[in-house]
Amino acid sequence: MNYIVRDIKLAPQGQKKIDWVKAHMPVLRDLERQLSETRPLEGMRISLSIHMEAKTAYLAIVLKNAGAQVVACGSNSLSTQDDVCAALAENGISIFAVHRCSQDDYKNYLKLALEHSPHIVVDDGGELVALLHGECSGLGRDVIGGCEETTTGIQRLEAMEKEGVLKFPMMAVNNARCKQLFDNRYGTGQSVFDSIMRNTNLIIAGKTIVVSGYGWCGKGIAMRAAALGAKVIITEIDSVKAMEAFMDGHSVMTMEEASKFGDIFITVTGCNKVITTSHMKNMKNGAILSNAGHFNVEIDMEALEKEAKAKENVRENIVEYEVAGRQIRVLAEGKLVNIAAADGHPAEIMDLSFAVQLLSALYIKENSKDLDKKLYQVPESIDRAIAERKLKSFNVSIDKLTEEQLSYLNDWAN
Ligand code: NAI
Repeated sequence: MNYIVRDIKLAPQGQKKIDWVKAHMPVLRDLERQLSETRPLEGMRISLSIHMEAKTAYLAIVLKNAGAQVVACGSNSLSTQDDVCAALAENGISIFAVHRCSQDDYKNYLKLALEHSPHIVVDDGGELVALLHGECSGLGRDVIGGCEETTTGIQRLEAMEKEGVLKFPMMAVNNARCKQLFDNRYGTGQSVFDSIMRNTNLIIAGKTIVVSGYGWCGKGIAMRAAALGAKVIITEIDSVKAMEAFMDGHSVMTMEEASKFGDIFITVTGCNKVITTSHMKNMKNGAILSNAGHFNVEIDMEALEKEAKAKENVRENIVEYEVAGRQIRVLAEGKLVNIAAADGHPAEIMDLSFAVQLLSALYIKENSKDLDKKLYQVPESIDRAIAERKLKSFNVSIDKLTEEQLSYLNDWAN
């Protein structure tokens, strides 16, 4: 058994974290019970690159119990939890991940996760897939398909598909309704504020919060900001999304304008340089900047590092920069604030997302012969099966169409 973790002795503490989330993930538990009997992934080698914390660890364990040989690594060194990684190693999963490792080590761990020549890749942000199409293309010979967890990864896959370079089928897990509607919206909405509040220990009510991007995540963040009593300003580049934000009751303006008013800024666009140092020069003294988008490119940290006159670590996960005579405070180095500086989404939400991951991996195994080198949407039947199980866990029942209603709905003549 191969692993690189900070300290294997941390395993008992990590196991407690995994047990806690497992208790709140009824859909995944149910699937685990079922699949450990039938072991449909027997003989499959799976490489998993994902934020290495308790909920993802539980997904890795379920994949293993469904028969797969799993090798895992992180998808961001700041979000890697060393105790959870140690527990995964104790659970018989090869894991290569260390919190705050160097960029070189991080990349090396991604490569190590591919060394067993996977059949299926489970990716979060597209880094494994990028390696399999470049430096590590030799390790992709057995790949029958993969699953992508987040919007940023999907954007890359769409670009690859368009250029005709994608070498295997990929499932757009991110786009499933049971993912986007809950994980991106409610999960990000809640966990971003959990992180900002626990790291700053400041109040949200009465503050002006600038949210960049009114997509699935941005909507959730704006909704929670307003519910906590903040005034919300949205910046967008899409006129329809901007209209939606406006009609939802938020102020909409350019970042150039918004930069003058915000107390707290949250970028969540998937785009780079959304906040630049020229915006920072307009900002109030003490403005707080954070990012919830997948990569740490949304706040121009490189330019900030160059232009800042002084820099001080003022609190755990908060660095204060002096730019243009004002103090600008950046959370979690501009990395995903809710995962790099907190525990990520609530377990009940990731129950849905990881059920989509699991069933999509199974779908690839069962349908690989019929799949082309394309990006596939998760079938509606998977979404419905997961929603049904989740509703059952909440003791919620819904109506069924009667025969009469069905024929009314399908009747165009009358
Ligand atoms: P989305 O595609 O639904 O929304 C992105 C929005 O940003 C779009 O409305 C787009 O028009 C807007 N946008 C793009 N460039 C912009 C710019 N320069 N200025 C202002 N607005 C801009 O995507 P979604 O699902 O909301 O994801 C956004 C990012 O968050 C992605 O990087 C995704 O991978 C990441 N993500 C992060 C999570 C977390 O836990 N922090 C969870 C899920 C996704």
